Amino acid sequence: MKEYLYENFRILAQTPIGNTDVSRFDEAAAERALRFHRSLPDYRRTDLEKLGCAAERYGVDSIFVKDESSRFGLKAFKGLGGSYCMFRILCEKLGLDADAADYSSFSDDRIRKACSSITFATATDGNHGKGVSWAAKIFGCRAHVFMPKGTVEARRRAVEAAGSATAEITEMNYDETVRYASRLAEQNGWILIQDTAWDGYEKIPAWIIEGYLTMAAEAEAQMGAKKPTHIFLQAGVGSMAGGVAAYFIHRAADQMPHVTIVEAEGSDCIYQSAKKNDGQIHTVSDECRTIMAGLNCGTPCKTVWPILRDCSGFYCACKDCITEAGMRAYASPFAGEISTVVSGESGAVTYGLLLEILQSQELRQLFRIDNNSVILLFNTEGDTDPEDYARIIAK
Ligand SMILES: Cc1ncc(COP(=O)(O)O)c(C=O)c1O
Repeated sequence: MKEYLYENFRILAQTPIGNTDVSRFDEAAAERALRFHRSLPDYRRTDLEKLGCAAERYGVDSIFVKDESSRFGLKAFKGLGGSYCMFRILCEKLGLDADAADYSSFSDDRIRKACSSITFATATDGNHGKGVSWAAKIFGCRAHVFMPKGTVEARRRAVEAAGSATAEITEMNYDETVRYASRLAEQNGWILIQDTAWDGYEKIPAWIIEGYLTMAAEAEAQMGAKKPTHIFLQAGVGSMAGGVAAYFIHRAADQMPHVTIVEAEGSDCIYQSAKKNDGQIHTVSDECRTIMAGLNCGTPCKTVWPILRDCSGFYCACKDCITEAGMRAYASPFAGEISTVVSGESGAVTYGLLLEILQSQELRQLFRIDNNSVILLFNTEGDTDPEDYARIIAK
């Protein structure tokens, strides 16, 4: 394992062992999630943008961006996990066969009445809470959402506006807020629907991660014959990155893609855990101030940690200026590029970092990027904080 220090980012490079079992997040799991999502009235496959001009300019085969900024009208991918997980929990609780049921099963009066007495709780920096609030509304349930200190009021209001949840900003950091939501759920008979796993709490987060696979399966289908050689995935607790990486690794069989995990400096818990190199998860202080609110988490998700540890080639920790550059590059692409992409603070960091890599011979070599490289990125959120987005784009 080798560390490379640059002014605005750090890189940890390793040779992946790649022998971890990734079959939990395979195409069968993705197909089950996709089948459920397709049954939702708001379902529409999100776009896969091809940044043809950027690819030509930087001499790579292609750069694809799966653009989640319009998913379910929530401006982020997170509703995929919240809705699928809530579906699985409700199926289990109400005795429905999840392999046969879909959203239409919930129009039955008896089922709707039962749903109205079920309450969920979660902690969130915003996007997961919006997904849970929206999912609770479509299933006719209730939800309480708790947000860490420093959350902007607009994000709290957006959680309530997305569906049927009440949302509250606490005086605690993200990890403490998760513990608080968990305690309250226990005391009040609510169901904790959390997007990260720890010892003894694994079934529900695994369903959330399976829900994220819909975007991986869609992206793969949209890429046609092209197979990603490089995948850059932003991470908070790493649930999304671990699930999506597992999916593509499983699909690739012997042609394993180069997976890069990208975090915000200061909340780079996956980077720091990998760097300790003892195989274990480590928590970083969660007091970091970053504009990448969705990535501001201090402890990796237990379920995907072995995948992130054994299958990633690179870990990167980036300063805010990297995501700001990515946001602006998506918003003002090279002349001739077909589309612009609206990408928020947690969505654009992978593109900002990729641009740094593509412009440096040394980094291209390190990441093994050449003119055959097929690069896949996920724009995980749009302008979820519209004021901040406008300010950064105008800079
Ligand atoms: C927009 C966005 N991107 C990426 C992530 C990271 O996902 P995870 O916490 O599963 O690593 C989040 C998490 O909330 C997010 O909101």
